[in-house]
Amino acid sequence: MSTHPFWLAGTAATGDSEITVVNPYTGGVAGRVSVPTADQVEQAVAAARSAAAGSAALPAHARAAALDHISRRIGERAEEIALTITAESGKPVKWSRVEAARAVSVFRWAAEEARRDSGELQRLDTDPGGTGRMALVRRVPRGPVLGISPFNFPLNLVAHKIAPAIAVGAPIILKPAPATPMTALLLGEIIAETDLPAGAVSVLPMPDDLAGRLIEDDRLPVVSFTGGAFGWEIQKRAPHKHVTLELGGNAAAVVLDDADLEWAAERVALFGNNQAGQVCIGVQRVVVTDAVYDAFVSRLVERVEALGTGDPADEKTDVGPLVNEAAAVRVQEWVREAAAGGAELLTGGVRDGVTMAPTVVAGAPADSRLMREEVFGPVLVLQRVADTDAAFAAVNDSDFGLQAGVFTRDLPTAFRAHRELEVGGVIIGDVPTFRADQMPYGGVKGSGVGREGVRAAMTDLTCERVLVLTGISL
Ligand code: SIN
Repeated sequence: MSTHPFWLAGTAATGDSEITVVNPYTGGVAGRVSVPTADQVEQAVAAARSAAAGSAALPAHARAAALDHISRRIGERAEEIALTITAESGKPVKWSRVEAARAVSVFRWAAEEARRDSGELQRLDTDPGGTGRMALVRRVPRGPVLGISPFNFPLNLVAHKIAPAIAVGAPIILKPAPATPMTALLLGEIIAETDLPAGAVSVLPMPDDLAGRLIEDDRLPVVSFTGGAFGWEIQKRAPHKHVTLELGGNAAAVVLDDADLEWAAERVALFGNNQAGQVCIGVQRVVVTDAVYDAFVSRLVERVEALGTGDPADEKTDVGPLVNEAAAVRVQEWVREAAAGGAELLTGGVRDGVTMAPTVVAGAPADSRLMREEVFGPVLVLQRVADTDAAFAAVNDSDFGLQAGVFTRDLPTAFRAHRELEVGGVIIGDVPTFRADQMPYGGVKGSGVGREGVRAAMTDLTCERVLVLTGISL
């Protein structure tokens, strides 16, 4: 098995050490990737710095053409990419295919946004002092970006770092998750086919503990991080940088009296467990009003038990392994802890190596980790509440706030949810696990700062620069 090279300023290169990527399901070697030396990391940062002016000055058609090319090539290589995602992450192949299709749209959206972005003309003659003047407000890149992506979407969360950076003309160094670097390197290969300036994109796999130097390097003034609570550490270590953090949460789905219970049960069962619950907006807490609780729970348990676990390479598998055995052991431990505190286990709770059975728990203690923290596993935690007031209070009783889903058919309740729920996004009539890649995406409280989603990320990677013209009549 050959070792995958990394992408140093658009060129394939190898270092003097490597990461062995393990297939979470088989435990076998999925691949080997080369890790850059300290000198090579320095070369990538210097190349990003020297590409900054050229990238920012690239005409829109050149940035858009590169993005369109990447989008098309991901589409052409989608099956190969999906199989790579499954091999390195254990994601069921049907979800890996969805991920590849989403990345096609992310790059396509970025191409469209790159063409659209024209700045804003502002009249200044609104006061006597501005007579004869006008302003052109344009957004310019803040500078080269360090993107750090997680293991759970080895392609699409990389796409969400790289595509907006190319769209605005900001060079980017991408550090993929050490568990799942191969898909990012495949993307690097596609990017290398474009005419982007050499330093525009580097993809550098490395163990997490080697990333500190990049985080602190002043030549990379922007850090865009998706992952766990370590994100706050980045903000502490680089307080002068512009930092975007997407840190997950313990997303709630609310089932109210007027919900379509069949639909709600189907969606909650699926999206509490797809990717073995390893999705930042995967359903974790399920808040159900008293009037429909029993009818909903029986439907939910039936649907959860119908999910097929097993080999993620099998087309029929719904729920595959966790990323590694330590993660599965931790999830089972949290379930046991809740049960010891009085929670009722309605189904699941058992583990077979790296695979955890889809699990439903009711009545977990309010201070248990299943209720308070992000489980990142296939576990649904039911909460019975009196009414809508109590349901919304329960959603907000969290240290996180990424997205929430509310099953209701009542429009005023939908608007109330939007007003009152302390999250970055409210999904009405569905689970919190809905994400269209053009939507602003990010959270409040412990879920992070800033927003992804192509347009929102482009705004985040840039700042306004005003040009005032004098002697102009509008
Ligand atoms: C995430 O897990 O942060 C991303 C979810 C998604 O893009 O669907």
